[in-house]
Amino acid sequence: MKSLIVCFSYHHNNTQKIAEVMAKMLDAQVKPPEEVSPEELLQFDLVGFGSGIYGEKYHEHLLEFVDRLLHVTNKKAFIFSTSSMEEAVKNHLLLREKLKSKGYTIVDEFNCRGFNTNSFLKLFGGLNKGRPNADDLKHAKEFAMNLAISNK
Ligand SMILES: Cc1cc2nc3c(=O)[nH]c(=O)nc-3n(C[C@H](O)[C@H](O)[C@H](O)COP(=O)(O)O)c2cc1C
Repeated sequence: MKSLIVCFSYHHNNTQKIAEVMAKMLDAQVKPPEEVSPEELLQFDLVGFGSGIYGEKYHEHLLEFVDRLLHVTNKKAFIFSTSSMEEAVKNHLLLREKLKSKGYTIVDEFNCRGFNTNSFLKLFGGLNKGRPNADDLKHAKEFAMNLAISNK
């Protein structure tokens, strides 16, 4: 199974850390959206889409990238995020729907907490310091291992 991970991570590189652990298990590369063309994506059977959560949704760069994707059949995707709060169901809704409308089957979803120093939070040392931590990375690794096994 040929896999790729498309990840936009900028605030503290929290999601990038998760992406890299997953990539190792899936023998995949991690690329930012601006380095992937919609045509290139067609050669992969499984694509992971990840970013931090901003204003209760995935980052605009990732959402706009998905808007440009070509329609596919028989392609699988997984989505993953880091965020201040664990509200993955709500925060994942828009990306999930966009990918489904492009023809992707969402096989699984992952979320964990990420360090957040947005706005006034930095005055108090930020939220979720140290996240993702070793446990989060372990969960990400297990998540990707399951994907590798169940999508062989
Ligand atoms: C401008 C901004 C808006 C954010 N909005 C949310 C939000 O709506 N919900 C949430 O749970 N976390 C929010 N966060 C926290 C980020 O999702 C969290 O820090 C994430 O781990 C950042 O990922 P990154 O380092 O990969 O960019 C926000 C952070 C920033 C900087």
